Amino acid sequence: MADRVAAGPPPARPPRMRPREGHPPLNDHTDRVLTLFDSKAARWPDKYANKGRLAGRLGQLAGAVRDLVGGGELLDLGCGSGELARHLAATGYRVTGCDIAPRMLRHAQAADPGHTVSWIRLDPQWRTLPFAPGVLDAVIAASVLEYVPDPSAVLRECARVLRPGGTLLCTVPDLAHPVRWLEWPLSFAARTPLARVAERAWPRLGSYLTYLRISRQRRRDRWWQANARHAGLQPARLPAQHAPRAPLRLLAFTRLGDATGSRHNTTGESSGDDDNR
Ligand SMILES: C[S@@+](CC[C@H](N)C(=O)[O-])C[C@H]1O[C@@H](n2cnc3c(N)ncnc32)[C@H](O)[C@@H]1O
Repeated sequence: MADRVAAGPPPARPPRMRPREGHPPLNDHTDRVLTLFDSKAARWPDKYANKGRLAGRLGQLAGAVRDLVGGGELLDLGCGSGELARHLAATGYRVTGCDIAPRMLRHAQAADPGHTVSWIRLDPQWRTLPFAPGVLDAVIAASVLEYVPDPSAVLRECARVLRPGGTLLCTVPDLAHPVRWLEWPLSFAARTPLARVAERAWPRLGSYLTYLRISRQRRRDRWWQANARHAGLQPARLPAQHAPRAPLRLLAFTRLGDATGSRHNTTGESSGDDDNR
């Protein structure tokens, strides 16, 4: 069990972000990301069902949170249909789930009639998270950073909202995994005119090709670590049980500053997760 929420009032939250009036058109990449995940929203929860492709993810991520985060205020950035956010809220954390895909959030909210999580829809082109500096104990970004247009800026923003000693947990594609070797040539093929023809004929293939096109942030560990350091985040060691060989790698970082509250062992090592999306 995770530690229960510490006594005392929760940090003040700024008002929820809503799309601005006269919002500029989305750029192609953001539009594709939002469209793909909205189209997947209705069936995303199935992935967490028994034998679903993400069935192991809850236990794994919640275990890492339990081992690294003492308690308090968490943000699930890119929460999708909200399974992890609800799970963490049920174990005693105060949780906010945010996402750019409205249908994902609608499913997340519908599955949370007790309002155990605070759900926030982000402007698809957000640059600033709707939190004051230093108010969060942890940010979790599961399978999100590979889709964002500027991961360095997102790392900086995560660092801004974390308290000193706070934790960022994120999963990123593990380039050393054979699935990623296969995706490398396929992602080039996905950009050819032939792929456009094929996806019209086979919609399921189309979804996979879109994924290959939008999962753009294929970076080596040392790139994530260097950019995280630049943002004020120190790579943190994860316990060995969180490091299975998998297409996604689980990385942990600690917000620099007064690390008194941190339970991390900061060594620069990182480990893995179990799904490729
Ligand atoms: C692969 S899904 C993962 C969902 C959830 N974290 C999970 O593990 O089940 C990626 C999610 O990230 C969201 N997303 C993509 N880009 C984002 C961004 N820039 N800001 C916030 N969420 C984003 C998508 O809408 C989608 O719900």
